[in-house]
Formats: sequence, structure tokens, C-alpha cells
Amino acid sequence: MQVDVLLGMQWGDEGKGKIVDVLTPNYDIIARFQGGPNAGHTLEFDGKKFVLHTIPSGIFHEGKMNLIGNGVVIDPSIFRKEIDNLINQGVPYKERLLISRKAHLILPTHRLLDAASEAAKGKDKIGSTLKGIGPTYMDKTGRNGLRVGDLESPHFQEKYAALREKHIQMLERMDFEIEGLDEMEQAWMEAVDFMKGIPFTNSEYYINNALKAGKRILAEGAQGSLLDIEFGSYPFVTSSNTICAGACTGLGIAPNKIGDVYGIFKAYCTRVGSGPFPTELEDEVGQRLRDIGHEYGATTGRPRRCGWLDMVALNYAVMLNGVTKLIMTKADVLNEFETIEVCTTYKFKGEETSEVPFDHADDRIETVYSDIKGWESELNVNDPMPKQLEDYIAFIEKETECPISIVSMGPDRKQTLIRDTQVA
Ligand code: GDP
Ligand code: IMO
Ligand code: MG
Repeated sequence: MQVDVLLGMQWGDEGKGKIVDVLTPNYDIIARFQGGPNAGHTLEFDGKKFVLHTIPSGIFHEGKMNLIGNGVVIDPSIFRKEIDNLINQGVPYKERLLISRKAHLILPTHRLLDAASEAAKGKDKIGSTLKGIGPTYMDKTGRNGLRVGDLESPHFQEKYAALREKHIQMLERMDFEIEGLDEMEQAWMEAVDFMKGIPFTNSEYYINNALKAGKRILAEGAQGSLLDIEFGSYPFVTSSNTICAGACTGLGIAPNKIGDVYGIFKAYCTRVGSGPFPTELEDEVGQRLRDIGHEYGATTGRPRRCGWLDMVALNYAVMLNGVTKLIMTKADVLNEFETIEVCTTYKFKGEETSEVPFDHADDRIETVYSDIKGWESELNVNDPMPKQLEDYIAFIEKETECPISIVSMGPDRKQTLIRDTQVA
């Protein structure tokens, strides 16, 4: 068997949570492989809405296992709140959830360091979600981090105290005023005890044994390809490999075990936080997209920046991830638009190019658009697709040389059109 991967093609929030939930019946295991509580994955079904941050989006399905992989960073306090929500809804999470021993822990002081780092950057801040993601991955690569498996060690408190002390010294050097740490730590320690009630696993063995046993696995990405630490719009990126390669390192699977790669994108484009966004619309059209699409962050509530679909960036993401099937979401948000614009190429230093330049923030990048006629009607998965939407899809398929297998027409599980009979 192989591991299919679903990941974002843009700057995150493409609708990964919704689609993972839709695809979960096809799989036995759903596994998150990177990121942490900076993610906010929204699911809607039976009139209810859930936002998951650390827990994989297959958790609502009976008989499915959900693995938090080694590449993920976990804040026990946030994790506990997520579990509390599940308990309130009567979801039997214990029998559906596993945590990798090699996943790194976000300490309260990591969160403070994130805030201190952003404050020090001033107007050049990344626009981080302030969940401690950057500092935790820095400790991981700096070989100082604490992992879930350390919670089982009799020396955990010493390890914690040593790392905490190091962080306090860093915060003092940054002249950062430390407030509320005692309360944060108390909640964190309680949450750690709670987390110990959930099975920890040597997840690289778990996944590879499951593959051998013929289990079907879907790896669920967080963030998006344009936030990837290597290939995103650096430095305005997150601190992990959000692209498909991250599923190999974040779960311990070999590259030749990757099966289908689902690349999910919005019918337009959004970004939250700072950094380049060549097709951004800072006018009433952008505001219209934000209003109709309810474009406010699922984790931070911040308004998302909105703009037209960027084919240069989308093609880049298709290339980096080896996408085999595309998924287009939020088509319904464009229902009322008479004309839809799509950026087909960039002009860089006066010359047309279909490549993303070294610095995506370079102000010499200009965008070249094609106009597409809108469908100007309501979408319904049971109705025939409007001709103009078919044309829009055909246009994107031609440009990306990749089929669009799923079209999402609303936030609910049921508002999903599966075009590819191999997927359903
Ligand atoms: P994720 O981080 O990729 O899981 O995406 P988010 O949950 O952060 O943001 C996607 C938002 O769009 C959520 O509020 C979803 O409920 C919503 N959504 C997903 N698919 C659709 C769709 O096809 N149409 C509309 N209107 N909303 C959608
Ligand atoms: P999901 O999984 C959208 C953005 C932040 C900021 C940058 C770095 O819901 O798609 P970080 O907290 O990682 O240091 O922030 O990345 N960002 C996201 N934007 N969706 C996300 O996740 C994001 N996770 C991080 O806004 O610009
Ligand atoms: Mg999100």
C-alpha cells in the first residue's frame, strides 16, 4: 500500500479540514505530519462546526485511527482544549487517537519567545500565529527540544527546567517582559498529565507496519506550499516543510511509498499574516471576497487578505508536490461575480515569466491577468455544473496539466462534488 497526501497549494486555509473529513471513509488512518496549533482546520456537518488545530480531521469517523506524527509540534494546553471540545460532543477520541513519541512539545516559554521575536521585528514581523511554532522548530533543529516521549522519562522535570531556564535567559536578553508564565505553566503541566492518558507510539513503526498490513493512509498537511520553509515566500513562511516531502520526514515513510498527492486550492486566493501576495486585491473586490467567503482566520480570527487565483504560484505548488489530483474549494464564493480574473503569468523586470522569482516579495513582479466569465448562479452539487464553471475548471486543468477531482461548493461535508470516480 501507499500513503496518499493531501496538502495546501496556497498560503493555507484552502479547506483541508473539510476535504480530509470527506475523504476519511476511503482510509483507515489519517496522519498529520507537520505544523501544530498554528493550523485551524474547519469541518462542518449535521449543522455543527468544529475547528481542529493539532488533531487530524478524521477524528469524527468511527473505526478510523488518527495519528499526530513526529513532524508535528504539540502544545499540550491547546491539545487539551481540543479534546475537551470532542468530549463535549461525545466523540470517543481515546480509541481513535495516537501521538508520536517523537513529536516535539511547545513549551509556554516557546510562546513567549514567539511574541518576543515578533515584537523585535516590529513592522517587519512575520505575522506569526504566536503559538510558539518557530521557536519550537528552532529548538528541534538546534537539538534542544523536548519530545512527547520525554514525558515518560523520570528525568522529564529536569529536562523541562533546563530548557525553560535557557528560554528565560533568551527572553531577558531580548528585554521581553515576562507576564503570566506561572499560570501558563500550571495549565501546561496539567495538560501534560492529561495527554499521558492518550497512547504514545513509535509512529514510524506504526505507519510502516500499517502499510505492510494493507491499511490505507491519508497524510493531512497543514499550512500551504507557499508557506513552506524552503520554497515559500521566505522569510514570511512557517517553520516546517509543508510540501509533500514533509510527509516523508514527518511520518517516517520512504518517498517511494507516496501514492496520490491531492493539491487543494481555493478558486481565488487568500493569505493571513505578512508577506508577498502578488494578486492581492486591496479594494472593494477583495472586500467582497472576504465578506462572501467569510475570510477570517480559524485560529486567530484575523481578516484574511484576498485576491485572484495565481496560476504561476499554483503551478509552482503542483511541481513541488508532484500533485496527481487537484481539489478546488470555495467555488460558490464566486457565484455572484460577473467576471473572474486569473493571473496567468508574471512580468519580472519587464519580461514575462511563468516562474516564481527568487524573492516573491520583489516589487518588480507585475501580474498579468486573463478574464474568465463568471457563472452568476447558485451552485448545487446535485445540479448540472454551469458551463462557465466547467470552462474555469478546464482552464485550470489545462494550465496545470492536472485533473480537478473534487469541487467544493460550500462548507458542509455534503456540499462536495466528486468528479473523479476513483476518489468516491
Ligand atoms: P484549512 O485550514 O485548509 O482546513 O481551512 P480553514 O478551515 O482554515 O478555512 C477554510 C474555511 O472555508 C472554513 O471556514 C471552511 O468551513 C470553509 N469552506 C471550506 N470549503 C468551502 C467551500 O467550498 N465553500 C465555502 N463557502 N466555504 C468553504
Ligand atoms: P492552516 O493549516 C494560514 C501563517 C501565519 C504567518 C506565518 C507564520 O489552517 O492552513 P507561524 O505561526 O507558523 O509562525 O506563522 O504562517 N500561517 C497560516 N496561515 N493557515 C495556516 O494553517 C497557517 N499557519 C501559519 O499567519 O503568516
Ligand atoms: Mg486554516
